[in-house]
Amino acid sequence: MAKSCKTAILISGSGTNLQAFIDAVADGNLDLELAVVFSNNPDAYGLERAEQAGIPTACIQHSDFPDRASFDHAVIEELDRHSPGLLILAGFMRILSPAFVTHYAGRILNIHPALLPLYPGLNTHQRVLDAGDQWHGSTVHFVTEKLDAGPRILQGRLAVVPGETADELATRVQTVEHQIYPQAAGWVGSGKVTCRDEQAWVDGELAAEPVIQTY
Ligand code: GRF
Repeated sequence: MAKSCKTAILISGSGTNLQAFIDAVADGNLDLELAVVFSNNPDAYGLERAEQAGIPTACIQHSDFPDRASFDHAVIEELDRHSPGLLILAGFMRILSPAFVTHYAGRILNIHPALLPLYPGLNTHQRVLDAGDQWHGSTVHFVTEKLDAGPRILQGRLAVVPGETADELATRVQTVEHQIYPQAAGWVGSGKVTCRDEQAWVDGELAAEPVIQTY
């Protein structure tokens, strides 16, 4: 049997998406080797989740470094000790330098809580409600140098319920994230989905649009 793709998961906080990966691997639904969980925040609850699951952890605080470049260099050194084939950004609240993105080109995934290209940036749930949109959701995409703009792989969408609050909407979107993120990562880890020329390819065919699943 082919070896599972060694995977690093980068977090800054609670790590509910990390937990979804841990559970999917434990349940036999996701063929990745979770090699290390990295945080820039020593208080991130996700580090405890990793320890409970027996996954190695590493933490480097960005505040200990004079600039983004030197922090990113230290993170690369730490991650490369685990030879990751895939990096999963799961609530990692740092913008990555071009050198970092180049080092792991085509091997970094992010999940963004909106139907990209709609609503890059922060506060997505409130912005969707303010705009009166019918649909909202989350997007798994490859990371390129442009923030929240890399090739999209998979979107989970749900209908906005009239009168719901941004917090209620956020909770429902997170439930979707916990399903689509491990699913999309599995596609990339197995080589089914790749990133080349800043575009996504599925089974060798150019995928101009992401797969969309409605919840
Ligand atoms: C997720 O909602 C994701 O969309 C965003 O950060 C959040 C992380 O949440 N990128 P958690 O730490 O996985 O609970």
